[in-house]
This record gives sequence, C-alpha cells and structure tokens, in this order.
Amino acid sequence: TKAIALVVAAGSGLRVGGEIPKQFLTLAGKPLLRYCLETFLSHPRVAGVRVVINPTYQALYETATTGLDLLPPVHGGQTRQESVRLGLESLADLSPHLVLIHDAARPFLDAATIDRTLDTLATHPAALVAVPVVDTLKRAAGSFSGLTVDRNGLWRAQTPQGFHYNTILSAHHAVMGRDAEMTDDAGVAEAAGIDVALVLGHEDNFKITTPADLARAERMLNPKMS
Ligand code: CTP
Ligand code: MG
Repeated sequence: TKAIALVVAAGSGLRVGGEIPKQFLTLAGKPLLRYCLETFLSHPRVAGVRVVINPTYQALYETATTGLDLLPPVHGGQTRQESVRLGLESLADLSPHLVLIHDAARPFLDAATIDRTLDTLATHPAALVAVPVVDTLKRAAGSFSGLTVDRNGLWRAQTPQGFHYNTILSAHHAVMGRDAEMTDDAGVAEAAGIDVALVLGHEDNFKITTPADLARAERMLNPKMS
C-alpha cells in the first residue's frame, strides 16, 4: 500500500533566527524544504506529498517548490501539533491508508528509512523512526552533575513517524488542546494508548534547530568548503 507524506513546514524557526523561517533558507544552493520533498516524490511507495505552511510565507513556499508535483499546500496552526492535525484533516478526501508525518527541518531523510517505516506499518499501526542514545546522560542538580541516567533503552525520536491514517487522526482529535505535553506524533499516539513500534533511523537525519545545525548541514553537503 502506498502512503501520503505530510510535511510540516508552518513553524517560524525562532531558534535558528534570521529574517525568514529556516525551511526556506538556501542550503548548498537549494531551499531546505525542497530536500525532503524530492526524497518523498522520488520514492516508489509514496503516492502524494502535501506540505503544511504558514500563509504568511506562501510566496516563499511557491519559490521553494517550483516545478515539484505536490498536492496543494494547506495552512498550519500555532503549534506543531495543530499543524499536523490540520494537515491530517485536509487528507480526509483522499482517505489514505498510511501517512508519513515529517519535519521540513530534516533535509537528510533517506529512502531506506522510508522503506523501513512502511515495512513496519504492514504489521503495526504506528512506527517511530528513532536512534539509540549513545552519550552518557546526566540529570543536572543546579550547575552540578547530579546523577547519571541509565541510557539503556533510551532513544531519540526523529521523523518520519508513520501511522495508519484513521488511527493517528483519531489520536490527534483525542488529545486536542494538550499541545504542551507532546512534541511529536508518536507522543500523541502513545497518549491515545496506541503501541508505537521503533524503527531504526539514521544519525544524518537530524533536525535543523540551531545555527550550528545549519552549519553542520552545509558541511555535509559541501565538504570542500569547510
Ligand atoms: N512546525 C509547524 N507548525 C508549527 C510549529 C512547527 O509546522 N506551528 C514545523 C516546523 O516548520 C518544523 C517542524 O514542525 O518543520 C519541527 O519544529 P521545530 O524544529 O520546532 O521548528 P520551528 O517551530 O519552526 O522552530 P523553533 O521552535 O525554533 O521556532
Ligand atoms: Mg518549534
């Protein structure tokens, strides 16, 4: 079964800063948003791609996606959770079986990760791409290292996060308004009592959150320049 990719790009990118939201910045000559869109569009198991945007930046969206065969964009909301819910609701007329929800701010998504996620959805209602924590973790006590936290069994969530469409739409409706408690869609699913299967991700699929992340992304794409 093919999936619809829902890419959330309605944030303001406050932590990166600057005049325009990070997803519209140029990364090695190409708009950041465009990287993941091209990966989804060229994937044989993805039937359609929709982007959730802030209407203020409609013109930047049009420029960034010139020539791409996308579903029409829809408008997002104040929080990521709201943007995802509005995006999911907009897909109702397509009634997809599977949906892959992805952050526009993760340009280094690879086709194999999409495949592993879709493979998992053949037998599970929810699939979370994540990587195991490798660093030693500390719980701070003020400015001191209070305690070492056992990292065994801890994972860092990435996207895409894949779901059976009806399952995640219902879960979003069930938790509406509790945005502060959940920063991703796996969290929404967990809160609704859905078992979320872990899918091994890739270290390169990091989210561009800070200026340092942007510099790392430029180095990855342009190693000669650094
Ligand atoms: N996002 C969204 N709608 C929002 C907030 C976030 O669609 N109201 C999207 C962002 O565009 C991004 C993804 O969710 O692709 C992950 O969010 P994050 O990295 O936090 O991006 P921003 O919220 O834009 O950045 P910041 O938190 O630094 O302002
Ligand atoms: Mg944010």
